[in-house]
Formats: sequence, C-alpha cells, structure tokens
Amino acid sequence: MHEFSDRVAVITGAAGGIGLALARQALSRGMRVVLSDLDDQGLRAAARQLGAPAERVLLHAADVSRDADVAALADAAFARFGAVHLLCNNAGVGFSRLATEHSAADWEWVIGVNLFGVAHGVRHFLPRMQAAGEPGHVLNTASAAGLVSTPGMAAYNASKQAVVALSETLRAELLAQQSAIGVSVLCPAWVPTGIHASERARPQRFGVAGSASGASAAYAQGMEQAVRSGRLTPDDIARIAFDAVVRGEFYILPHRRIAQAVAQRFAEIAAAAEPATNP
Ligand SMILES: NC(=O)c1ccc[n+]([C@@H]2O[C@H](COP(=O)([O-])OP(=O)(O)OC[C@H]3O[C@@H](n4cnc5c(N)ncnc54)[C@H](O)[C@@H]3O)[C@@H](O)[C@H]2O)c1
Repeated sequence: MHEFSDRVAVITGAAGGIGLALARQALSRGMRVVLSDLDDQGLRAAARQLGAPAERVLLHAADVSRDADVAALADAAFARFGAVHLLCNNAGVGFSRLATEHSAADWEWVIGVNLFGVAHGVRHFLPRMQAAGEPGHVLNTASAAGLVSTPGMAAYNASKQAVVALSETLRAELLAQQSAIGVSVLCPAWVPTGIHASERARPQRFGVAGSASGASAAYAQGMEQAVRSGRLTPDDIARIAFDAVVRGEFYILPHRRIAQAVAQRFAEIAAAAEPATNP
C-alpha cells in the first residue's frame, strides 16, 4: 500500500499506546480514521488529543474479543466512510504470571483479546476490503513475544505466536489469490505504554486476576520495568510500521536485536538443540 491520502484506516486499541500512535501516524499521512477501543472515555480523550477534524474521524467503542462487537465496528466503518483500506488489528493485553498460575479465565481473556480479536477483525473486514478491489493492507500487532518465548508470559506468548501464524497463513492465501490486499505483522519488543496495567481493561466476564506472589509477582514486576524502560516510543513504532507497509514488508521488527534472537531460536529448532534460557 503506497497511497494513504484520504484512504481509511481502522485502528483497534486506539485509546492509548501504540494504537494512538498509529492513529497519529495515519492522520499525519492524510488518512481518515476509525478509532476503536474498549475504553470509550479513553477513546474520546485520545480523539481530543489528536485534534483531527470531526469529519475525518469516527469513534466506535468495541471489545475485540466479542465477535458481534467487531462485526458492528466493520458495519459502522463502512457505513461512515464507504471503504476501509488499512486495518490495524492492534488491541491487546499483557499478562504475567507463572504458567501454572494462569487461571482458565486468564487464558480466555488473553487469547480472547490478542488472538480472537485479530481473527474477528480479519473475518469481518477483509472480505469487504477485497470486494472493493482497491489496494489495502492488514497490519496485525503481534509482538517480539510472537517470535521468541519469554518466561512468565505463557498466555501472552501463545497468543502472539498464534497471531504471527495467522498472519503468515493469511499472507500466503492472499498471494495465491493475487489479492490487492497486503499483510504485515508488527513484532516490537518492549515499548513504554500502559500494557503492564492491562487488568484495567479486563471485561467482567473474564473475572479478575488472582493476586501474584513469589515468582509470579517477580515476573509481573520484571515486565513492568521492561515496558517502562523501552527505548523506542509508540510514535517510533508507528512510523516504522507505516514505512514498512509502504515497502510491503511482512515481518516488522522495530528492535533489531530481536532478529538475532529469532535466528538463534530457529537455529536451535533446526539443530534440535537445547533452547538457550531467555530470562
Ligand atoms: N508495549 C509493549 O511493550 C508491546 C510490545 C509488543 C507488542 N505490543 C502490542 O501492542 C499492542 C498495543 O498495546 P500497547 O502497548 O499500546 O498497550 P496499551 O495498554 O497502552 O494499549 C492497548 C489498548 O487496547 C485496549 N484494549 C484492551 N482490551 C481491549 C479489548 N478487549 N477490546 C478493545 N480494546 C482493548 C486498551 O483499552 C488500550 O487502549 C498490543 O497488541 C500489545 O500486545 C506491545
């Protein structure tokens, strides 16, 4: 996708962090935007912060883990702007505990938002984007955790590795169809956002996390510190992502050190070698 001016972007998880930065980037490239988030008030505050003219912005609250919410988001986006060219499946939640201390509800929440949210987005938007016959792009926010497994984040790692797999599958299918729609998967390492406090955005039906103690608490603290110390800002990530979309790049790894970790992982897999510990 090369042309952004007056095209339409849909961004989930747009109330803050990387989603808000993607919205800023889309607007700066002349796009009209549909901004969506579970957090309705946060979404309105984000829109005020962006300061874009009302005719270029649609706000639509949605919980991406709910199929019906994403269907309604697609209906609202097409009804308002008549087309969608860039779909940013970005909403996601972080969760850190020992694998044995993830409850069934913890798994359902993290997989529900991080994986099903992307799957719902693809299902409800992509056929309509394809039917329009115009160039477009799907940008799925996975994570470096989609490529290498860090201890203390079992559900998060599993959800993000599934998003990478979904994106790879989609890319192959769209290429086989000679589709005008491209796909990229965004895999940042730590970025200073609100992701360490994702519990704030946990829908009631997924319950609440049990308190973390011992090793689980240490992993949760480690994740918060790592997030806070991220060197690339959300705006850096968004700019890198848009530039990669222009170049048609599939894997987007804004932190170069992740490429080394990926090379090491796949060398270990190919050699059936013992995985290096990744604390
Ligand atoms: N921050 C990092 O270190 C980092 C690293 C790699 C990948 N990511 C990914 O980037 C994406 C954005 O996260 P972020 O870091 O900006 O975090 P963030 O918490 O700042 O923003 C996430 C947004 O998603 C929204 N959200 C949460 N659950 C939702 C749901 N069910 N439906 C709709 N919206 C929901 C939140 O309200 C929030 O506005 C996520 O997919 C995350 O996994 C983040």
